[in-house]
Formats: sequence, structure tokens, C-alpha cells
Amino acid sequence: VAAPDLSGRHVVVSAGGTREPLDPVRFLGNRSSGKQGYALARTALARGARVTLIEANTGLPDPAGADIVRVGTAVQLREAVLKAAADADAVVMAAAVADFRPETYATGKIKKRDGHEPEPIALVRNPDILAEIAGGGTGERPRPGQVVVGFAAETDDVLANGRRKLRRKGCDLLVVNEVGERKTFGSEENEAVVLGADGTQTPVPHGPKDTLADLVWDLVVPRLDPSRR
Ligand code: PMT
Repeated sequence: VAAPDLSGRHVVVSAGGTREPLDPVRFLGNRSSGKQGYALARTALARGARVTLIEANTGLPDPAGADIVRVGTAVQLREAVLKAAADADAVVMAAAVADFRPETYATGKIKKRDGHEPEPIALVRNPDILAEIAGGGTGERPRPGQVVVGFAAETDDVLANGRRKLRRKGCDLLVVNEVGERKTFGSEENEAVVLGADGTQTPVPHGPKDTLADLVWDLVVPRLDPSRR
């Protein structure tokens, strides 16, 4: 039985991948299944937390006891995270968020036209949710005392990119996992290094996503604000 070291705490976890619609039948998306985020929600529940799980397009069964919020796009995810984070002790952004969305949404299905080249798709930036809640490297948090954890999906130069990302976003912990078409996304297992803003570096060997999730909470617990309990 897990130690109830998150009892009395409210944690927010985002899971899955945002989808940015082009027209009523198509979207720009990514390969996140939501399994890592759900593992974080399950393990936090087992450790006594109140959990708000914000899920984007996972289709996974609801973990019993979590408050579930369903979203589709990055803009919707931002709104849900900011709302739930208002009284949260910790926020963990495991969702894979689209950095860009199509500039326009076609209300009818985009058709191919004989003899015409396809139209280019213009993209605009999505909000950076993690940077917004973590202060974006300014050292100022909208919610002081909140522990903010990001995930980084990297394909190369994993650690150097991770360190840069940790500083740029301003989070307390960044879980850097290597991803690829057949790696991490959708699988039952993960392998990562958890970087701390205090310079710590915790390697997590290849294993179940629940094990990585528990290790993330092990690192979150000592960083929680004792006066908020
Ligand atoms: O869902 P699974 O199949 O189990 O796979 C798990 C996972 C690989 C999706 C997960 O472990 C993971 O790495 N999630 C983060 C993926 C991601 O979006 O990485 P990123 O490097 O693009 O973003 C870094 C961090 O900023 C993430 O915490 C992300 O949630 C956040 N972000 C990114 C862009 C944006 N516009 N807003 C954000 O908040």
C-alpha cells in the first residue's frame, strides 16, 4: 500500500494529445496515448491526493476517484488547466500540446480540386501553458508555492535540450523522455531523466509508466509547500 503522502493535497495532471482542427474531419495531432498521464493520476490517487485529470483525446477508462475534465485543443486545455490550477498544490503537464494550430478552420470539408496544387496550411502559435503556470523563467509564479512539473518529449540531444527547456519554462521538475514512432508513445513503459531546477538529475531506468509516475511524486512531495496543507 502506498504511503498517503499526498493526502490533503490537490494535484492537477494533464494527459493525452491535443488535436487542432483543420476542418470538420481533419486535425493536426500527435502520438500521445495518455498512458503516462493516467499513470500519474492513478498513483497520486493511491497516495491520497485529490486529483483533477484533464484529458485530451485519450479514450482511456476514467481512474476511479479522479475529477475528469475532457478537452480537445490546446486552447481548451489551457483554460481547463488554469481553472483547476487555481487551488492546486502541484500541476503535472504530461499532455503533448500542439505548439501551433491552423490559422483558419474550414467549416466545410477541404476538397481537392483537379488541376490545382494543395493550399498551404498557415499556422499560428498556441499558448505555452506550462510556461504560463511556471512563470516562463521570470522566477515569478502566478501561484507561489505551487510545484510545477513538465515533461519533455525529445528525439535527440535529450539532456541538453531538457536543461534549456527547464530554464525557459521555469518549472521545478522536468521529466525528459526520449520519444520516437515506436518509443514511449502508446507503450506501457517509459525511460527518463528527471531534471530539477535545483540542478538535480534523477535517472529512471526503463520500466512501467506507473513506476516513473511514483518516482515523480517522490520528487514532488518534498517540494510541496508545508503551509498549504
Ligand atoms: O501519452 P503516452 O503515450 O503515455 O506518452 C507519454 C508522453 C511521451 C506524451 C509524455 O511522457 C510526454 O513527454 N509529454 C509531454 C510531451 C510534450 O508536449 O513535450 P514538449 O517538449 O513539446 O513540451 C514540454 C512541456 O511543455 C510539456 O509538459 C507540455 O505539456 C508543455 N507544453 C508544450 C507546448 C505548449 N504549447 N504548452 C505546454 O504546456
